[in-house]
Amino acid sequence: MANYDVIIIGSGPGGYVCAIRCAQLGLKTACVEGRETLGGTCLNVGCIPSKALLHASHMLHEAEHNFAKMGLKGKSPSVDWPQMLAYKDDVIGQNTKGIEFLFKKNKVDWLKGWGEIPEAGKVKVGDEVHEAKNIIIASGSEASNVPGADVTIDEKIVVTSTGALELGKVPKKMVVIGAGVIGLEMGSVYARLGAEVTVVEFLDAITPGMDAEVQKTFQRTLKKQGLKFVMGAAVNKVETLKTKAKVHYKIRKNDKEESIDADVVLVATGRRPYTDGLGLEALGIEMTKGGQIKTDDHWKTNVDGIYAIGDAIAGPMLAHKAEDEGMAVAEVIAGNHGHVNYNVIPGVIYTHPEVATVGATEESLKEQDHKYKVGKFSFMGNGRAKAVFAGDGFVKLIADAETDRILGCHIIGPAAGDLIHEVCVAMEFGASAQDLALTCHAHPTYSEAVREAALACGDGAIHA
Ligand code: FAD
Ligand code: NAI
Repeated sequence: MANYDVIIIGSGPGGYVCAIRCAQLGLKTACVEGRETLGGTCLNVGCIPSKALLHASHMLHEAEHNFAKMGLKGKSPSVDWPQMLAYKDDVIGQNTKGIEFLFKKNKVDWLKGWGEIPEAGKVKVGDEVHEAKNIIIASGSEASNVPGADVTIDEKIVVTSTGALELGKVPKKMVVIGAGVIGLEMGSVYARLGAEVTVVEFLDAITPGMDAEVQKTFQRTLKKQGLKFVMGAAVNKVETLKTKAKVHYKIRKNDKEESIDADVVLVATGRRPYTDGLGLEALGIEMTKGGQIKTDDHWKTNVDGIYAIGDAIAGPMLAHKAEDEGMAVAEVIAGNHGHVNYNVIPGVIYTHPEVATVGATEESLKEQDHKYKVGKFSFMGNGRAKAVFAGDGFVKLIADAETDRILGCHIIGPAAGDLIHEVCVAMEFGASAQDLALTCHAHPTYSEAVREAALACGDGAIHA
């Protein structure tokens, strides 16, 4: 048994970042993790492995589709699937070991095992009970099943993202249920590796909540890459045969029942908070209807000394949102000021092209009757993008009609996930579109497209 200032339960991006910041602020800190390795969903079965497979499959796509155009002739590479998985596992290992190193460097104790909270101020791991002035729950999330449908997930034929990251082989036919972030990222991976991928989506548009123009351009681009879509379809059953599955769905507009065969079915219909085994009910911790831990503005639950962050609480289920909450709650516990600006949390989809978004959409502003203006610039007018076959897509900057203050930005195009951050910084500083437009941007960069969109909010873009 040991006494700590802070014990964090869970070592995902919320938990491990929080632990490091607590230690840096001089608090005696431990982090409980039940997995074999640190880093949570993100490093082990989420952000990092999926990006490794996206990268490898994108390289293949480039070789197959663009190399010859640049005068790079020869046989296209073939896929050695076990080696691709080994590369992905190596990337995971480097990252999870990196967190272990950072814990040692910052003197954070890793309490190995599954933790529970028998009472405020105590955390039990195995047979050991540790004392902590403050407990932070960062227990993350898990994949949820298709709501209201008869689907048994076996992680072999019917898989979540976790199974999809380590399939025995590349399937011939894959059905993805849900056209959200996971479905489109993992669907892209397998489509590029040669699978016939069909995405079945409940709504009429992909990536719900995103800017409508981006949604349309994104879907069109993915279709060009070979993904098929069945839209407005509610999956009600997945039948598993020996080595195959049949996905049954109803077309919502006419109630027509249809089905589609698959070698592998990926269930990607959202995630839910994971709080099993923590003992929250006995502690009387208040939860939301959606199963999230309820917190106040300082991430405190209704029980003194117990806080919660990341996917286990409300808000977008994103690694960087969890990290920001982790750093902020550490500051609060150390007696400082902790702050997260929930209006400026970027969202990125790491397909090719990438999709990135921050702040208000036109649709959300119309609903609020907020007057705005739009500056849009196509990557077709960006020399660098054209040079690398990445002219499809655009930057759309939205600014207040009167004050010119930037309200949001939506990008589909090359390196969109990096470009979005200059807009995030601008928004944090309350900048206007003109501030961006007057900032010198190096040539030739993709970033020039952001500046051109800002110019388009005023007197007009130059290369449009
Ligand atoms: P988690 O990362 O889920 O970590 C929680 C940890 O707590 C787990 O390791 C778990 O084992 C541990 N734990 C739980 N209960 C206990 C207990 N009682 N005792 C001990 N340990 C416990 N987000 C992005 O921003 N960008 C991306 O590109 C991205 N890609 C993703 C791809 C996939 C396939 C998936 C599934 C998710 C992706 N996400 C991405 C989402 C991202 O992974 C999550 O938002 C993020 O991991 C949440 O962090 P967290 O710290 O709240 O929880
Ligand atoms: P999601 O919420 O992004 O998408 C789920 C999709 O499934 C929605 O389009 C929804 O309409 C659809 N759906 C729901 N029920 C259905 C049904 N019965 N039939 C057909 N379609 C149905 O969830 P997803 O993709 O599982 O991702 C979970 C979380 O992981 C997200 O919140 C996301 O933030 C995070 N994530 C983030 C990534 C990133 O930042 N790049 C990558 C992967 C995941």
